[in-house]
Amino acid sequence: MTGTGRIQHAGMAAKVMSADAAVEHIRHGDTVGMSGFTGAGYPKVVPQALAREITAAHDAGQPFRVNVWTGASTAPELDGALAAADGIELRLPYQSDPVSRQKINDGLMEYIDVHLSHVAQLAWEGFLGPLDVAVVEVSGITAEGALVPSSSIGNNKTWLDRADRVVLEVNSWQSADLDGMHDVYYGTALPPHRRPIQLVEPGDRIGEPYLRVDPDKVVAVVETDSPDRNTAFAAPDDTARRIAGHLIEFLDHEVSVGRVPSQLLPLQSGVGNVANAVLAGLQHSRYEQLTAYTEVIQDGMLDLLRSGKLALASATAFSLSPTAVEDFNANAREFRDRILLRPQEISNHPEVIRRLGVLAMNGMIEADLYGNVNSTHLMGSRIQNGIGGSGDFARNAFISFFVTPSTAKGGAISSIVPMVSHVDHTEHDVHVIVTEHGLADLRGLAPRRRAQVVIDHCAAPEYRPMLADYVERAQTGAYGRHTPHLLAEALSWHTRYLETGSMLPS
Ligand code: COA
Repeated sequence: MTGTGRIQHAGMAAKVMSADAAVEHIRHGDTVGMSGFTGAGYPKVVPQALAREITAAHDAGQPFRVNVWTGASTAPELDGALAAADGIELRLPYQSDPVSRQKINDGLMEYIDVHLSHVAQLAWEGFLGPLDVAVVEVSGITAEGALVPSSSIGNNKTWLDRADRVVLEVNSWQSADLDGMHDVYYGTALPPHRRPIQLVEPGDRIGEPYLRVDPDKVVAVVETDSPDRNTAFAAPDDTARRIAGHLIEFLDHEVSVGRVPSQLLPLQSGVGNVANAVLAGLQHSRYEQLTAYTEVIQDGMLDLLRSGKLALASATAFSLSPTAVEDFNANAREFRDRILLRPQEISNHPEVIRRLGVLAMNGMIEADLYGNVNSTHLMGSRIQNGIGGSGDFARNAFISFFVTPSTAKGGAISSIVPMVSHVDHTEHDVHVIVTEHGLADLRGLAPRRRAQVVIDHCAAPEYRPMLADYVERAQTGAYGRHTPHLLAEALSWHTRYLETGSMLPS
């Protein structure tokens, strides 16, 4: 037992050391699997010590770079520090750090953007190569050596199982009441040994509350008392409120015609302010006894849990603003029976999402006339964040929504374009597009009808005539009138923006 009382296993307590000593176990060329998902549960001090070690090596003319795998995005102490030290050779699967983004877009860091549900499977297949070290934050270690997970689970189970060496950070800042909130499923296997996942309701517990680790692999335990660092959500602006309004009105309609039950279906809500605004909108809706089968629990979801509108939420991580995280930590016990955190291979599992009939709501960068969606790239080449779990959910949802303001950069960019400059979600996986101007329900519509409703309902008024003109001229082409395009012009809006600073002709 140590001072904090969080490390009760004698063998692991004997391995407590400083972060600087722990990084001696990480070497140039290693692949390191780190915990962390949307700014929650990432290791707080070992990555920073590693960044110092990397800088010292570079100053001495020695090479030192590592491959970094995580659950999803982390925080400046991890991605930011290692990227600034030029210490990351390859990063996967999702990031949103500005320094990393710049390095990736400058061609100085390799980045593999994969569906979040695929990561564990890729690692188990051995497809990504060996995993040398796992660096995982936990909120405690039991006397038996089980690990009480932290504010995210992500890929921790896989990292702990696959890595040769394990470094644990035990963070006493995390609420002790997280104990019991997790459901770690150990039944996954590779084909042909897979069995159905017996999860039929969002709140079903199918696993165990703790992560397992082989104590012999644990080479270092580092104690911390550090907050998760998430950015605050902006209060929903008028645009976000209007998008939320259209979406909720649509849900009302789906309920009224009997396609969706009165307590809706399990909700998934993506990252960002618009998604949070939709949740805020549900707070004032008539819906009760809602459930969430989602990836992250953000402020709006915590509010819905508190008001009782949301009966329970299943996710893999928290993604709370500093104010909400303080509130959660002070009152974690109150939420304990109604929040479940699972490994991301289960929170994002396509089979489960399809069975539960999830209503998936995700942000996007742009959509085209026919409903293809780009969630990841600006102007075709520049990565913003990554696909995250949006593909896991969109492809398998009962209804798949994509939301965005109709313009960006003060109106210089239209989010509705003739052809998307990069495709993450094809027209086959996109059911409904929503902007502040309205909602395009694309279900059951052939391509040319789709174009019409996208223009009429979602495009900004100043771009509608240009879009209508494009479709009209494309339809006169003799080659193909099913999904009509003018190939020489399809991406001309993007090139015009890059050349003139606006998609609108001068
Ligand atoms: N073309 C070019 N740039 C655009 C654009 C467009 N159509 N739309 C937005 N942008 C720019 C914005 O101006 C902004 O640039 P800035 O940082 O220089 O101001 C940047 O892209 C981000 O836009 P913003 O509106 O702030 O994004 P957001 O916070 O609402 O997030 C996504 C939108 C798509 C980036 C985000 O939802 C995402 O990463 N999605 C993919 C992952 C995902 O869906 N995860 C959830 C699954 S559970």
